[in-house]
Amino acid sequence: MEFSVVTVALLAICLSCLLLFRKGKGQGTGGRLPPGPRPLPIVGNLFQLDPKNMVKSLLALRERYGSVYTIYLGPQPFVALCGYQAVKEALVDQGEEFSGRGDLPVVFRFTQGDGIAFSNGEKWKVLRRFAIQILRDFGMGRRSIEERIQEEAQCVVEELAKTKAEPFDPTFLISRAVSNVICSIVFGDRFDYEDKKFLTLVGLMNDNFQRLSSWWAQVYNLFPHVISYLPGPHNRIFENFEKLRLFVLEMVKLHQETLDPNFPRDFIDCFLLKMQQEKEDPLTYFHTNTLVMTTHNLFFGGTETTSTTLRYGILILLKYPEKQAKVYEEINQAVGPHRSPSIEDRAQMPYTEALIHEIQRFIDIFPMGIPHAVTSDTHFRGYVLPKGTNIMPFFHSVHNDVTKFKDPGRFDPTNFLDENGGFCRHEAFMPFSTGKRVCLGEALARMEIFLFLTTLVQRFTLQPVVPPEEIDTSPLISGLGNVPRPYKFRAIPR
Ligand code: HEM
Repeated sequence: MEFSVVTVALLAICLSCLLLFRKGKGQGTGGRLPPGPRPLPIVGNLFQLDPKNMVKSLLALRERYGSVYTIYLGPQPFVALCGYQAVKEALVDQGEEFSGRGDLPVVFRFTQGDGIAFSNGEKWKVLRRFAIQILRDFGMGRRSIEERIQEEAQCVVEELAKTKAEPFDPTFLISRAVSNVICSIVFGDRFDYEDKKFLTLVGLMNDNFQRLSSWWAQVYNLFPHVISYLPGPHNRIFENFEKLRLFVLEMVKLHQETLDPNFPRDFIDCFLLKMQQEKEDPLTYFHTNTLVMTTHNLFFGGTETTSTTLRYGILILLKYPEKQAKVYEEINQAVGPHRSPSIEDRAQMPYTEALIHEIQRFIDIFPMGIPHAVTSDTHFRGYVLPKGTNIMPFFHSVHNDVTKFKDPGRFDPTNFLDENGGFCRHEAFMPFSTGKRVCLGEALARMEIFLFLTTLVQRFTLQPVVPPEEIDTSPLISGLGNVPRPYKFRAIPR
């Protein structure tokens, strides 16, 4: 069922008037918020926003109000941070105060603030610390996970070889390969690519990333109390999440039945052992529900973001064959044709490193980040943000900051190269965010992107099925995430 924005707005106004108007966080609590467009009761700044193109709306507001402004999403004020300097001053220089998780109603309905990604306070700190430790023990810092990714990349190569250079849509192959890496860490094993249940799970995650990025989800975030009661495509998000939750719960039960305290096999086993250790502690954060939500965070977070990045990355290599050729040349020199690329090779492959960074900058996968909140009354640039005020780190404006990147609208790996052709880091590179909430899977994701992409280019010429100049790299859907347009390509064996 399709509603126009105006219909939804009218419904929201009517129904909201029937509900008790809740005062948003940060309102009437003695704060002094940055300037912004005047909000209307209940609908906030709806009429200044286009839910189908939030990025454009937010950029227009920046022109008018500067790099720090207040925008009301429904009745809730959000302080938008635009450009590198503002984001860095908040998330890094005042990291502790800006480390809270803000409101994302479309996800909160499912998480209820449990798990890592959507929890706050002590619970978040304890769970995050625990997860980082286990990820380190089970893989990210160790050689074993590199080998796991290399093996999975070979499985992808075998599957691509079967296409016999016929046009092929890589979406689900890439998602299954990437998902298998995080599955090995959290569930202790990978799935066969033909496993029906696995295919369904990967399909649910892919579908939800698209739905969370749709304009419906943006409208839901504006008026959750109203839209919750309406039929519409947003309900599929909750159904999909529930199916994923039930799958994780089933895995947890299987682990409980076979747990050997002396040989924890994976993340779930470690969490179960921690639950046993702390079972007498009434204040413990280690419960079955939290285990399910935390595992779900890793499973979903570890699958969709990395596979979308890879899928987008391949599309960009198809559009720029001369850049793909440069990557191949570097692989040839550093790795040669016989062995698998390894993480150590990164140091000898500055162009490829730069290209991967440029892919991540250019595709800007979370253009508006994931909302933060201030954890205490916070003084920032002369304003006073009351505790709990929502913060929007507008990463699109960082990745397109003209003071940091020359011609940011253009795909150009030299953004990450010095004058001698060496790789150079860039302070305004923030696809994983920055500060205390920075993505905890960054190291794993970076390994995966490098190993999967280089293995593919080592073994195949990735050839478009349309002239490169016709390839459109702008996102098909842009909301919470940027989703690339579907495409096919030919994998021609080298
Ligand atoms: C290219 C791949 C990835 C990208 C671009 C990405 C990006 C992000 C971003 C922007 C955030 C929000 C940070 C913030 O609130 O400021 C985040 C959080 C998170 N990511 Fe990732 N991520 C990726 C891969 C992964 C992987 C592989 C995992 C699993 C191991 C993962 C797990 C998480 C978790 C659990 C959080 C929540 C952190 C917290 O709230 O403390 N991500 N990620």
